[in-house]
Amino acid sequence: MVARTRDQLADALAAADTVSSVVMTMGALHDGHRALIRAARDLVGGDGSVIVTIFVNPLQFGPGEDLERYPRTFESDLAACADEGVDLVFAPDDAELYPGGQPVVTVEPGTLGRELEGAVRPGHFAGVLTVVAKLLNLTVPTYAVFGEKDYQQLTLIRRMVADLELPYQIVGVPTVREADGLALSSRNRYLSDEEHTAALALSRALRAGADAAGSGPDAVVAAAAAELKPDAVAVDYLELRGPRLEPAPEHGPARLLVAARVGRGTRLIDNAAIELP
Ligand code: PAF
Repeated sequence: MVARTRDQLADALAAADTVSSVVMTMGALHDGHRALIRAARDLVGGDGSVIVTIFVNPLQFGPGEDLERYPRTFESDLAACADEGVDLVFAPDDAELYPGGQPVVTVEPGTLGRELEGAVRPGHFAGVLTVVAKLLNLTVPTYAVFGEKDYQQLTLIRRMVADLELPYQIVGVPTVREADGLALSSRNRYLSDEEHTAALALSRALRAGADAAGSGPDAVVAAAAAELKPDAVAVDYLELRGPRLEPAPEHGPARLLVAARVGRGTRLIDNAAIELP
């Protein structure tokens, strides 16, 4: 079933009255989203409800970004949801979700929101956290499932839920990759074959970084950087951090994160867990 308005959503939720999990998306669903939907189903079982939201959130796009050309594939998204046994799709338009236009009060993501992705995309995470908070409060799920591909987003959502005492459990799901290593993303459809090949440098860099973990944090970054040739990709950042994106530890779990522009300017991000002995 598809709810287009908050009233339709409220009616559907009241009728279902069961444990639920939500997967928030901007549409253009791919196998990565399907993995999130399956994880959402595993969390609630056959008697629970899986809700998918589809909304291209203007608040999280900066000037000159790809809001207008972001892929919109609603009919095939609905088919994918039906195929995965999704119980409810919430697909509001801008006026439904932001009835007063641009919201005056938004969620401020703090210093982490201005680092990494936030340094390149000012205001992005305030837009993300604001819409995620709204969609959580509208869908009132027990669980909300997000991909580790957007690791900084996942980290900030966890932070928001903890800091604001929001009564939802956030669940992260590992990144789904193509057989050649490219992390699945709705933006991959912008890539030509040649750009796709160039984009493989990101996952290669993460693997090289992980392989160098035995030699320490500096070696991880150096090994990864060696894979990111400037003639193939333009790197925005390559950083090793702690698992909550605090400064990188000397030992133990860490996260290597990369963002780069490929070809005509498609921005891709990727990350990997690193274990520093
Ligand atoms: O990850 C995304 O697709 C978006 O940032 C999200 C969480 C749906 C918020 O618009």
